[in-house]
Amino acid sequence: MAKVAFNDEAMREVETLFSRYPKKINALLPLLHLAQRENEGWLPPGWDTYLAKLCGTTVNHVRGVVTFYNMFRTVKPGRHHIMVCNCLPCGVTGGGALLEHLEHKLGIHPGNTTEDGLFSLEEAQCLAACDQAPVMMVNEDLRKKVTFDEVDAWIKQTRSSGE
Ligand code: FES
Repeated sequence: MAKVAFNDEAMREVETLFSRYPKKINALLPLLHLAQRENEGWLPPGWDTYLAKLCGTTVNHVRGVVTFYNMFRTVKPGRHHIMVCNCLPCGVTGGGALLEHLEHKLGIHPGNTTEDGLFSLEEAQCLAACDQAPVMMVNEDLRKKVTFDEVDAWIKQTRSSGE
């Protein structure tokens, strides 16, 4: 099992985050993002307890925050976690069709990961780029005005490189 603690470099980020807020608990959201980034896109077991201690709060408080926001994941995603926005502006400009296209290309439904562990898929709420719809996000990379051709080329290239 991987160590449940930030490394030295991440701890420097933690200290910077703490310095921006009056109380450590106020830094919980950015700390969760940091923890997720440090753990390949998810929060493995034990991180809720670790962050609770770090912020001086309860594990239940941390779990409540993690389960309230759908950007935090407690299940390991694929190496490329794809979030497709299907809110109204994206929905009327092809978000739903894009999601269906990805389901077909990858052979999985939202909430699942491909057998090779390369891709996971999620139907997302607004990704805050409505004027650039349809929008999807791959890990931290926001992609705007996405076309099927772009998606197909990226999937093909990713599969052939295996990365
Ligand atoms: S509705 Fe898709 S980014 Fe806002």
